[in-house]
Amino acid sequence: MAVTRRHFLGIAAGTGTVAALGLAVPWLSSSAEIGRLLHSEIPLPEPFTIPLPVPPVLSPQADGGTDRYELEHRPAVVEILPGVRTEIWGYDGRFPGPTIVSRRGRPVVVRHRNNLPVPSVVHLHGGHTPAASDGYPTDLILPNGADGDAVSLHTHGRDPHASIAEGFRDYMYPMTQRAATLWYHDHRMGFTGPSVWRGLAGFHLVHDDEEDALPLPAGDRDIPLMIVDRSFGADGSLLYPSIDAAQRQTPGVEEEFLPGVLGDVILVNGAMWPFHEVAGARYRFRMLNASNTRRYQLALDPPPAGGAGLVQIGSDGGLLGSPVRHDAINIAPGERFDVVVDFSRYQPGRTVTLVNRLGAGKTRLVMQFRISGRTADDSAVPDRLSTIEPLPTSRGTVTRDFVFGNAEDHTWHINRRPFDPARMDATVPLEETEVWRFTTDFHHPVHLHLEQFQVLGRNSEGRGPYDSGWKDTIDLRPAERVAVAVRFTDYPGRYVFHCHNLEHEDMAMMANVRVDQR
Ligand code: C2O
Ligand code: CU
Ligand code: CU
Repeated sequence: MAVTRRHFLGIAAGTGTVAALGLAVPWLSSSAEIGRLLHSEIPLPEPFTIPLPVPPVLSPQADGGTDRYELEHRPAVVEILPGVRTEIWGYDGRFPGPTIVSRRGRPVVVRHRNNLPVPSVVHLHGGHTPAASDGYPTDLILPNGADGDAVSLHTHGRDPHASIAEGFRDYMYPMTQRAATLWYHDHRMGFTGPSVWRGLAGFHLVHDDEEDALPLPAGDRDIPLMIVDRSFGADGSLLYPSIDAAQRQTPGVEEEFLPGVLGDVILVNGAMWPFHEVAGARYRFRMLNASNTRRYQLALDPPPAGGAGLVQIGSDGGLLGSPVRHDAINIAPGERFDVVVDFSRYQPGRTVTLVNRLGAGKTRLVMQFRISGRTADDSAVPDRLSTIEPLPTSRGTVTRDFVFGNAEDHTWHINRRPFDPARMDATVPLEETEVWRFTTDFHHPVHLHLEQFQVLGRNSEGRGPYDSGWKDTIDLRPAERVAVAVRFTDYPGRYVFHCHNLEHEDMAMMANVRVDQR
């Protein structure tokens, strides 16, 4: 294995061993499976005993027109399972990290200090961010006080364009983007899966005047929900099948977990199967699937009379043009769905479970809502939320094809090539609209940095029910071809796009796009 792993990380030149077409998955028992379940070694507690935590909002230091923040990456011991101590890696020692709340047009600078035992990289997922602050996978922050040794760790030193910071880095976010639910997470090359699994993820919400003018539920009835799955060792530690437990040298997971790691405990905002007391009123939930591999089909059980209990108002890139009513929502890793639930459609005193119809046993449960009495509610979901101009495409539009596949050497790749920081896989002029087509025979949540895109269609059909609005991550499913229209704006430079199944990402399912000044 060592040889192939080194090979696909681009240390050896060329891609000669990646000869398979990549549309067979010989080492998976079934492509209906999305990953491999990692069983906890500790008895799992009863669900719905812990109240839902909401991550604290960080206060900025205002500096002229800019909001400044500082966050420290550090290990911490927290209680996730009742009475059990679990070490995490967290932003300010928390999982999820503190929430950053920004205003469109007001720049943000976040100083990230690394006090972990390994290098880190911070990416703002969904951010319209200049390349130098986008968290390119080799743009490391070395741990405070690290010896130079840390730089030479495996591939990092081999990217001639890598920018290495010692101890901290200031990430600059212009925030010239629509109101949306963004999130920040670790993005270190080869080690994103285990780092996010240990807790390096948080919300970054953007507000703007357009959204403020709408009568949507707000304040403590606007709640972000970070949904993940995890597994626990006998000693309460977070289990993860890394090849290199120290996360220093060799990326990747044990062979049977190559399709992806599934946990058997569902956490929302870091709490296992929590409950939340709600009034009989409308709530806005910003649902994020921050799991490494797990896809969910979220539904309310029981559904409200008349159905369509989940009213989607936003997607990855902010407000939809008009709301979309769902009985259930499929959400793949990295995706966000902004959803309004009206609990006044239920009897007071009822209990409603948010379930995952793709789960089995306890992974069918996500969280519980306990509905108290009715309350005054002047919120509403208007029929018109925003205006989404379709990106113009025509016969002459440049079209690119990307095949997401696997090779017999047990690596994941895009167009048969494993990720190599030195190779540009697409060079795109600024402001040019292109059509990108993604094909696969497996499940791959495809994510693009810098820009949100618009889904044009799946196979020969139109957009699917979960494809509305501006997306930066889509659920690409077996035997599908998804076409999207994309236009990169404002910031030239080197960016990545990749599979957001974090085990696939770490195993080289990533590619470079160079955005060029025209
Ligand atoms: Cu959320 Cu490149 O990732
Ligand atoms: Cu991203
Ligand atoms: Cu994938």
